[in-house]
Amino acid sequence: MKVLVVGSGGREHALCWRLAQSPQVEKVWCAPGNPGTSECATNVTIRADDISALADFAAQFGVDLTIVGPEAPLVAGIVDLFRKRGLRIFGPTASAARIESSKGFAKNLMVEAGIPTAAYRRCESRRDAEDYCQQRGAPLVLKADGLAAGKGVVVCYNSEEIRQGLIHLYDVIKTDTILVEELLIGPEASFFVATDGEQIVPIGSAHDYKRVGEGNTGPNTGGMGAVSPTPFLTSGDEAVVVETIVQPLLAVMRSHGTPFSGFLYVGLMLPEGKLPHVIEFNARFGDPECQVLMRRIQGDLFSLLYDLADGATAQPLPLSSKTAVAVVQASAGYPETSRSGDQILGLQRAEQVKGVAVFHAGTAIDKVGHVVTNGGRVLAVTAEGNTLEEACDRVYEACEKISFAGRVMRSDIGGPNNS
Ligand code: AMP
Ligand code: GLY
Repeated sequence: MKVLVVGSGGREHALCWRLAQSPQVEKVWCAPGNPGTSECATNVTIRADDISALADFAAQFGVDLTIVGPEAPLVAGIVDLFRKRGLRIFGPTASAARIESSKGFAKNLMVEAGIPTAAYRRCESRRDAEDYCQQRGAPLVLKADGLAAGKGVVVCYNSEEIRQGLIHLYDVIKTDTILVEELLIGPEASFFVATDGEQIVPIGSAHDYKRVGEGNTGPNTGGMGAVSPTPFLTSGDEAVVVETIVQPLLAVMRSHGTPFSGFLYVGLMLPEGKLPHVIEFNARFGDPECQVLMRRIQGDLFSLLYDLADGATAQPLPLSSKTAVAVVQASAGYPETSRSGDQILGLQRAEQVKGVAVFHAGTAIDKVGHVVTNGGRVLAVTAEGNTLEEACDRVYEACEKISFAGRVMRSDIGGPNNS
């Protein structure tokens, strides 16, 4: 079977790495990929958002299954286009992907389905938002309704933060509509399933570390590290999440004629003594959560995704009982800026540490053949271990073998400060 993975990050490297191990897979392509994906797949120079060129490629080369990593091609309608052309693809349609791109759309579905989530109000004008915030008072959470590259959420603990938050959303991000939400308190975790809209195949749990600095300080990032499984979610909780969140969500989406297929990312807050509450849904796998879960998947990921894309009966995917940890190494200036061209040393030595695999994200090969930085998040160094401590010891032993100028990395991944 021939597989095409769309994207160029650490998530896509981990997907290619795992798919290439399937006995059924004879060929993996990655578009556009990175120097890491070129070790387990063949890179294709087509951008992830050039959906018609991707469809032409899949048709011409007889791709049996396309798997989409990032949200941009999903929102652009890659799944709709492939299906129209009779090409098998795993992911949500553009209308279903709105559960990620519109927080208002996601909230409406949650309310209709009775899914536990923070109480909220949608404000259509700045005046309305100011009045409502004044009336409610702190603490509260302000959210832009739309993709805002991780900068659309402001948690406000006092009236000055509310004032600054409104200025940020209306004057800096220039949003039209915001949601004002109740502040939830508790650990954050995420849970992933693969689905065809009806069948739900749990993939597993993780938690990530969103802020750039030690102790979860500084600006938000795409994620500086991840742990799977997350100790915050027991296996009993996972069943509750499927029953109280995933099943009702999928049923409501089917009833609206926009069934959700693909990887569903359920972002959770776990308030003490209450049911898990949804903070957000994403219409794709997480990054770096994918990297840790790919380390733990034991069964044949390809068969699962192929069956789900075909509407056939899917088999559950066993997960190892080990713990996997990912530590992201980012380039100088991240997350405000990023620096390219810094030579990366020690990659091979890092992979010799027991239980370690290094996934590439923002890397490139320079003119003389050196691996260099080429973007914000550069590498995700992963390790598995029998315990969280063992996985952390291994991952940081490997991280120390890698070096590049200006490297940004947290040394507390695996610790308690993720939210
Ligand atoms: P989101 O983009 O909706 O995932 O929000 C980004 C981050 O803001 C989350 O990971 C939480 O840390 C925080 N957050 C969002 N909504 C809430 C809420 N209702 N209560 C507390 N924290 C929140
Ligand atoms: N690590 C968070 C995300 O992928 O959205």
